[in-house]
Amino acid sequence: MACFIVESGSDPDHVAFLLRLAEQLGLDPRRHRCFADLGGDPQFVGSDRPIVLVPDGADGGRIADTIAFAERDGTHAHTIYIADTIAPDLYKRLLRTGAAEWTTWSDAPRELTEAAGRRSAVSDRGGSASGAAKIVSFVPSKGGVGTTTLALETGIHLASHRVSTGSGAGPGEGLGAGTRAGRRTGLRVAIVDLDLQGGTLADLVDVEPRFDVREIGGDPDRLDEHLVDVMTSRHASQLDVFASPIRRLGPDEIDPQIVFAFLDAISGRYDLVLIDTPHHGVPWIDNLIQGSDAVVMTGGGTVPALKQLRAGLSRLGEIAVPTEKVAAVIGPCDCDLIGRVTRRPEIDKALPEYRRFYIRRDVAAVGAAHDAGQPLMEMAPGSRVARDIRSLADWVGGLTGAPSAASSKVPVRRRLMRRARS
Ligand SMILES: Nc1ncnc2c1ncn2[C@@H]1O[C@H](COP(=O)(O)OP(=O)(O)OP(=O)(O)O)[C@@H](O)[C@H]1O
Ligand SMILES: [Mg+2]
Repeated sequence: MACFIVESGSDPDHVAFLLRLAEQLGLDPRRHRCFADLGGDPQFVGSDRPIVLVPDGADGGRIADTIAFAERDGTHAHTIYIADTIAPDLYKRLLRTGAAEWTTWSDAPRELTEAAGRRSAVSDRGGSASGAAKIVSFVPSKGGVGTTTLALETGIHLASHRVSTGSGAGPGEGLGAGTRAGRRTGLRVAIVDLDLQGGTLADLVDVEPRFDVREIGGDPDRLDEHLVDVMTSRHASQLDVFASPIRRLGPDEIDPQIVFAFLDAISGRYDLVLIDTPHHGVPWIDNLIQGSDAVVMTGGGTVPALKQLRAGLSRLGEIAVPTEKVAAVIGPCDCDLIGRVTRRPEIDKALPEYRRFYIRRDVAAVGAAHDAGQPLMEMAPGSRVARDIRSLADWVGGLTGAPSAASSKVPVRRRLMRRARS
């Protein structure tokens, strides 16, 4: 893997340290005086997912250039700024680029080792047309039960490279099993809001929606890397968001072939693609579900809501989705004074064959996160509701290690269209 060091004004000992470190990791380090030189180096331009190391200058003044570079370069390179201190606002701006991180000198060996591991894992899988991403569809059995929040927070948790250790994944073991501690996954995660007329997902984390299906213009061949880049909204957690701006679309403008071609085009870039389906559904929902590696069906816990959830789950059986691929999520759940879900015994009894996850109701924590346009995982990571969501996220994250149910060698579009024909 290619590695570039941009060294202007840096301490020569620091540069020598980074060179040694990169060589020890089997990288192929090249030195450049400044970002302009780097940008003009054909080896940099032509390399696959290079790492760029920026040691701080004597006056600590290189962070602004680093941010500007990461914004310009998009996701081509991953940039690591190494300095013992950084101002909080600049750190936020650096993270917001979605393509850079900061580390101290003492943490640099560990961070660089992890970054190189993540990049090579992605390179091994990414860029191929093999449809390597696992597709997980979040399908509501009714509206307003927190599906979008759940899909988004699952994505945020997994994209920030953590999977809790020791979480239960058996039926009914979801509640509160996750912890904050965990191992890094290095997962590349995207979330797609299938409300193509403009859903709420992008607003929940304050990113500008950029996925406009009309830009594909009925011609899947237009879906090149550049167009996908243009339609990607990058969140600071490393989650990529595909969400549409609000506008009216005629029925002819939502062609499933185009949507499937789009999923195919992005699937080579990610390990996991999460799909938030709107509660009013899409006509080709069955194709989407059958082509997915797992389905998270959401519903409520009241008697009528549970009936709807049961009916939705039965429908999955009718279209031959095996129960092992399904998680039933019940939320937002009311609890008693010690935090137990009030109707849990009845719900457990009603859905014995499904893996169940319960998400507690926490109007204050979820409402505050949504109002601030920030992830719950960042604003209230220790809350019970965040723990509940992490339990589900760990199950979803675990799917990336499993062999694909629908063969991963088959491109996503073919998987989906084959189902559409059958
Ligand atoms: N665990 C929770 N506790 C309390 N409130 C919640 C919880 N999850 C979601 N909400 C609130 O419920 C409302 C709907 O959330 P969200 O948009 O995620 O649901 P949805 O099922 O995707 O809705 P829609 O059917 O409109 O797509 C929001 O106001 C959100 O703040
Ligand atoms: Mg929704």
